[in-house]
Amino acid sequence: MSEKVYPVSKEWAERAHIDKALYEKMYQASIDDPESFWGEHGKRIDWFTPYTKVKNTLYGKDEVSIRWFEDGTTNAAHNCIDRHLETRGDQVAIIWEGDDPSESQKITYRELHDHVCRWANVLRNRNVEKGDRVTIYLPMIPEAAYAMLACARLGAIHSVVFGGFSPDSLAGRIEGCGSKTVITADEGLRGGRKVPLKANVDAAIARLPEGAVDHVVVVKRTGGDVAMEPGRDVYYNEAAEMVTADCPCEEMNAEDPLFILYTSGSTGSPKGVLHSTGGYLVYAAMTHQYVFDYHEGDIYWCTADVGWVTGHSYILYGPLANGATTLMFEGVPTYPSISRFWDVVDKHQVNIFYTAPTAIRSLMGAGEEPVKKTSRKSLRLLGSVGEPINPEAWEWYYKVVGDERCPIVDTWWQTETGGILITPLPGAIAQKPGSATLPFFGVKPVIVDAEGKELAGACEGNLCIADSWPGQMRTVFGDHERFIQTYFSTYPGKYFTGDGCRRDADGYYWITGRVDDVINVSGHRMGTAEVESALVAHPKVSEAAVVGYPHDIKGQGIYAYVTLMAGEEPSEALRKELVTWVRKEIGPIASPDLIQFAPGLPKTRSGKIMRRILRKIAEDEFGALGDTSTLAEPAVVDDLIENRQNRH
Ligand code: WT7
Repeated sequence: MSEKVYPVSKEWAERAHIDKALYEKMYQASIDDPESFWGEHGKRIDWFTPYTKVKNTLYGKDEVSIRWFEDGTTNAAHNCIDRHLETRGDQVAIIWEGDDPSESQKITYRELHDHVCRWANVLRNRNVEKGDRVTIYLPMIPEAAYAMLACARLGAIHSVVFGGFSPDSLAGRIEGCGSKTVITADEGLRGGRKVPLKANVDAAIARLPEGAVDHVVVVKRTGGDVAMEPGRDVYYNEAAEMVTADCPCEEMNAEDPLFILYTSGSTGSPKGVLHSTGGYLVYAAMTHQYVFDYHEGDIYWCTADVGWVTGHSYILYGPLANGATTLMFEGVPTYPSISRFWDVVDKHQVNIFYTAPTAIRSLMGAGEEPVKKTSRKSLRLLGSVGEPINPEAWEWYYKVVGDERCPIVDTWWQTETGGILITPLPGAIAQKPGSATLPFFGVKPVIVDAEGKELAGACEGNLCIADSWPGQMRTVFGDHERFIQTYFSTYPGKYFTGDGCRRDADGYYWITGRVDDVINVSGHRMGTAEVESALVAHPKVSEAAVVGYPHDIKGQGIYAYVTLMAGEEPSEALRKELVTWVRKEIGPIASPDLIQFAPGLPKTRSGKIMRRILRKIAEDEFGALGDTSTLAEPAVVDDLIENRQNRH
């Protein structure tokens, strides 16, 4: 592992909001007295009624309750739009770059206000009220931002579903939160290819009980011909003609929910992670400013999709709350050419660029030339998120993309955390390639061993957070028990992240990856149990076990062991059929990379699948299988090794 250190340059120490001395001082203050610290920083957003209480949080054994700024009232859309109108109404809020490079748009804060109010009125006309859930299944078009902010304006809770999910996955997420309204587009456009979003919505609704969804609002993106159900479906542009651009913001309590985002865990169906209004917004805005060292006038680009939490916090809410110009990109890094990211950087003079290691690794494969032929002079800071960045990719990002000029912020966080928890601050913290470095203000990481004992100094174990921060999720929608069970029962009194972590002698944190049955494929989080249940739903499959294995570009690939029903024969055709099946059941992001047909799976005598062994074989590391004597049938292992699919 690389232990190279990149110190903070003099220029950065001077220009940044936070230098080393200030980081240390503020961090200490945030830990010593969270009440005063957050009481002060909570003021960075506008409150209709100011809060008098700051922190009221309990990580108990049977009870977990998290409240921040609990008697204050505010509105997220007001903070992201209205409060900027007087000072920056004509400043660009969103730069939209289409899939096709000839298409782009600039939307000022005033125009954003106009769009969002119309959207809110269209929703209100369809009976959307405070507290109602609205499912948004849109491509990366400005309407995704308008629709989310319109929900926030009305106090409705948005649940954005990534456009890559299948009708089945979408149906589960509509039903899970009881959305009566769904917002979609005729088709999406990515890398020149069309995505049948409206058809997917129709298929999803067909799986739900009659009358589950009352309204579908459809944005015309491609103008493609789609079925419209009279009385239920309406084109947004037609509905918008009937409304004004005038819609006041609902007054929301700080603890009123802002959104739900479904995310995978080690067991069961995806959980509806619920985020609040006040604490979330304060945390998203503050981390956006300090981590990216955002300054007035900067052009900021986060390449994530709004279907993930990164898009929520760092395309939309954080940047807009700060009055920034945020770039939204519809396309993919390789279309129409492998230089696309850097062409967009030059075209819009991007200063701050935030992407995922998987994108960097896939671009590295094409060499330096597609990067070097672009200028990238506007770039000042680079960011990484979603999975551990290997030091080799880090160095390439630093040298080739950033010309050794731009610090890299390797930001560790999760859907559940709402915002960044561990990261370098570019003017304060020296970087080590591959390390997320040190905690943000108010964040108390602890590393525990398997028994929950806190480890001191340099150590390795499981990463927990000892106390609450304002951006933390509040509950699992509709299932508070599951919230407590999932995050607070393994190590009572602490929030358990599910990640393994090493702390080095300098106190730097190195995330080593998930320690539960969650895998991270190209920065997309997936429960192995979900892929398994999709596989066993196939009529020819009797049993399946899914594990991750190291993949050069994706970080982790999906390796599936499949046992067939009696009488079924393994074949290449069946392998393809199963891949297609999983894509249809969950979505393309869950496609197995490797499928091994196995006559039997290694189980203990009590019938538990020994995943440790399956992981080792998938890694092609079967020399170190460890103790296999507790297996019911040790011979199955020999067959698994002989027919392994990943060979170095
Ligand atoms: C999991 C959370 C947070 C936005 C995107 C993913 C992994 C995330 C890093 C990083 C190492 C990272 C962790 C975490 N992860 N960022 N900088 N270094 N690992 O959100 O889908 O909720 O996934 O992603 O394993 O637990 P998510």
